[in-house]
Amino acid sequence: MLIRRERAEDAPAVASVHRSAFGALYARENAERAAGESPAETTGRSPAEHTGRSSAEHTGRSPAEHTGRSPAERTAPSPPEPPEVDLVARLRSDAGWIPTLSLVAVEFDTVIGHVCLTRAAVGPFPALGLGPLGVHPEHQGAGVGSALMHAAIGAADALDEPLIGLLGSLDYYPRFGFVPAARLGIAPDEPDWVSHFQVRPLTTYEAQITGEFHYAEPFYEL
Ligand SMILES: CC(C)(COP(=O)(O)OP(=O)(O)OC[C@H]1O[C@@H](n2cnc3c(N)ncnc32)[C@H](O)[C@@H]1OP(=O)(O)O)[C@@H](O)C(=O)NCCC(=O)NCCS
Repeated sequence: MLIRRERAEDAPAVASVHRSAFGALYARENAERAAGESPAETTGRSPAEHTGRSSAEHTGRSPAEHTGRSPAERTAPSPPEPPEVDLVARLRSDAGWIPTLSLVAVEFDTVIGHVCLTRAAVGPFPALGLGPLGVHPEHQGAGVGSALMHAAIGAADALDEPLIGLLGSLDYYPRFGFVPAARLGIAPDEPDWVSHFQVRPLTTYEAQITGEFHYAEPFYEL
């Protein structure tokens, strides 16, 4: 497995990785809810999840409606498209997109994981937002997510970016140096995100970087 920058021709494979990674995650959470359990703390709380809407509600239409399948085929229930797929597509055409910080994990020429960092801000200070991070379910638990995280953090640090923010699991991200944002005087601009919002200060971080964290716009359009 190797980590490299995303290339233009990787876009469909990146969408496929997030479709399967987040599709499996939401299916698991829905099954737990249906069984009357509260879903286990997952590794990722994307802004989409924090809006309190299901991925079906986010997309409005099922993937079947986009694929031109016959009416008979459309009656078969198909899983809703996870909002993270559209998020990456929107980020790619947003002013906050940073091509150098969209990374893929590749095994035998196949993209099996993806993460991106996009332009964000803490008040007047530049910062980066991380996400989405996804690894194909068949390759999870083998160190791919960790490799992507370390590569992304290292690249951001080498570019003299002061800080990365993300909305994510309190069980997963602290191992990469993320701390609750409130500890550094930083708060997301969506109050619902406060409990899971974390930041990773980098080498050029300074204590005066406090205030409201704002992601690239597509994070608010989910
Ligand atoms: C989260 C995700 C990217 C992790 O990738 P991965 O390649 O499976 O992770 P790794 O193999 O590098 O695991 C690293 C560590 O995280 C732990 N981990 C993996 N999934 C976890 C989970 N759901 N909750 C808590 N810890 C988890 C592993 O146990 C491992 O711990 P260890 O080093 O002590 O053994 C992947 O599971 C995924 O794509 N999940 C669905 C989408 C998602 O939740 N994305 C993140 C939100 S934006």
